[in-house]
Amino acid sequence: MDEATTQTHFRTETDDDNIVWLHFDKAGAGTNVLSTEALQELDRHIQEIRTRNPRGLVILSDKQNGFIAGADIEEFTRIQSEAQALELIHLGQAVFNRLADLTFPTVALIHGFCLGGGTELSLACRYRVARDDPGTRLGLPEVRLGIHPGFGGSVRLTPLVGGIKAMDLMLTGRTIDGRQAKRIGLVDRVGPERHLRSAARRLVLDAPPPRRPALLDRLSNHALVRPLLARVFRKQVARRASRQHYPAPYALIDVWQKHANDPERMLEAEAQSIAGLIKGVTARNLIRVFFLQEQLKGLGKEIDYKPQYVHVIGAGTMGGDIAAWCAFRGFHVSLQDQSPERIAPALQRAHKLFRRKLKHPRKIASAMDRLMPDHRGAGIERADIIIEAIFEDAEVKRSLYRDIEPQMKVGAILATNTSSIPLEELTGALQHPERLVGLHFFNPVALMQLVEIVNGRETSIEVAGKVMAFTRQLDRLPLPVTSTPGFLVNRILMPYLMEAVVLESEGTPAAIIDRAATDFGMPMGPVELADTVGLDICLHVAEILAEHFNAEIPERLKKLVADGHLGKKSGRGFYTFKKGKAVKPRVSTRGWNLEDITNRLMMRMLNEAVSCVREQVVANEELLDAGLVFGTGFAPFRGGPMHHIHAIGAAPLRKELETLEHLRGKRFTPDPGWESLITPEGDT
Ligand code: NAI
Repeated sequence: MDEATTQTHFRTETDDDNIVWLHFDKAGAGTNVLSTEALQELDRHIQEIRTRNPRGLVILSDKQNGFIAGADIEEFTRIQSEAQALELIHLGQAVFNRLADLTFPTVALIHGFCLGGGTELSLACRYRVARDDPGTRLGLPEVRLGIHPGFGGSVRLTPLVGGIKAMDLMLTGRTIDGRQAKRIGLVDRVGPERHLRSAARRLVLDAPPPRRPALLDRLSNHALVRPLLARVFRKQVARRASRQHYPAPYALIDVWQKHANDPERMLEAEAQSIAGLIKGVTARNLIRVFFLQEQLKGLGKEIDYKPQYVHVIGAGTMGGDIAAWCAFRGFHVSLQDQSPERIAPALQRAHKLFRRKLKHPRKIASAMDRLMPDHRGAGIERADIIIEAIFEDAEVKRSLYRDIEPQMKVGAILATNTSSIPLEELTGALQHPERLVGLHFFNPVALMQLVEIVNGRETSIEVAGKVMAFTRQLDRLPLPVTSTPGFLVNRILMPYLMEAVVLESEGTPAAIIDRAATDFGMPMGPVELADTVGLDICLHVAEILAEHFNAEIPERLKKLVADGHLGKKSGRGFYTFKKGKAVKPRVSTRGWNLEDITNRLMMRMLNEAVSCVREQVVANEELLDAGLVFGTGFAPFRGGPMHHIHAIGAAPLRKELETLEHLRGKRFTPDPGWESLITPEGDT
């Protein structure tokens, strides 16, 4: 690297107490990440500061959004070999070792994101000070990318807070705020912004002995205890992810179990383990999913739209929860339904959400203040955006639009939460059809990340852009889709759910069908999913899709709905529900060909995905994969349905469909779109 590119990411200042303040401000980036270049520059600073032998060193970030978000994930994607991976990991380890070896006090001053490599850097400091606010998040979420900490994170965290707390943090990949970090011993001081610098200075000047963990925490790393704990950890991880699909957490447990008493060996084991993981399919696909998420987060970024007032019509399952979520995210919301009695349950659910999320009584009260019951629709006039979530009936929706449009502000947006009706069937009653857009949330609103932004033929580009920006303000991921029946997610999900119903009506036990899907990597089996969504809703969407795509609906589904067995909400569907949980009878998988079942389920889903690509329901295959991963939880380690098709090969998959078509009928007829996926070489 030449001189011109050096000294670009860090700057130092020395105060009157001879304390060096090392500011990280990554050039040309909004967020601090530890790229190779940044690590090398940090290294030069550390070596130079060491020769100066100051009173102490404080490392802090000049970025508003946080301390350090982690290593540069972009660089991971360029790694070609294990040797290259090792080189990068060894560099990070060497720099942090030099930081840890400094003989004067060192402090990491943390605000905002402090993740992965950021937390590892802070662990190489003698002390850590964190800002006390909900935006400050510390953690080692590497397992979510299919790897685990590699710059000494597990080596330093386990002795600091004990094996149990450290492994919990690393194995779940969850993040914690400053107070929680203080409680477990990850940080030494936590306080408001105005006290942070003086707290860091005091630590340097007083140089108290570094934190020593409690006896129990120390014991948890003991050689005799580790094998027992490791077994418990493996069991806990196995409940969420199999070793075959997600090897990283298991690899981390192995490293800790074998080497926790020998930091040097553990560092090397950490490095070797990651170098192996990073080249694996799971890590590559999870990193791909990470970038897909970034892509969705970037949509609507450049659009300057700041609505204040949101009016929601329909306080049922969806409208009620959408209104609550908007209020939680800081908008002023009025919530309309046919009568106050219909709004009341939504307000109760909102209160529960706010209690869970906000905890503080004052914050809960002000969120409730932002959510106004409004059965007369007084909020329509001032709303910047109106979200309609009434019954899924085109005529009822049209009649509502006819009533409300004259009351709407000029420029106000009308967004519908319809889950399947093409917008063109709804615009008839509108003077300004360009203001109608689909804003399709998924159930449950507080959990599901994805929101489909449905662009009707007449929807203006400006309106679509604005609702994408609004979706980001709601901390949700917008996915632009065309206004075709079922849009993207439901259209692809429905054949898969229907195949599950067919299998069940043929006599395959529901639990076996679900097992086949979860073995593939779906978060929940299709039968349980149908029960959870509501069989009436499934039937309704299936009917709309069947009408457009000339598909058949299994009689079994119609009968269950006719008998009032709607799934979770009525206590019985395919499964019986107790306390909101499906009671799954124990059935042996013996005698069932799970592979065949998975094949039937997944082939219908993949065939529909290909059909959506051909019809350009989304702009490209990447967006389709993002939609299915974030809208249905499609096995993230497979990188999405289209990525999966390319990994297996389009030609053999189409052949598989042809076989199924021959055996089971037209619902398996390969979509014409497969043709363009198959290259002349026979591969994709
Ligand atoms: P719901 O039946 O729970 O609630 C609909 C509410 O709208 C009822 O409270 C009803 O009183 C009210 N309503 C009907 N006509 C009205 C009018 N003219 N003025 C004011 N309020 C009126 O229905 P749900 O499940 O919340 O669905 C609402 C919309 O969201 C539908 O378009 C549906 O397709 C869509 N959707 C539903 C999902 C789900 O899982 N339930 C998922 C995604 C979208």
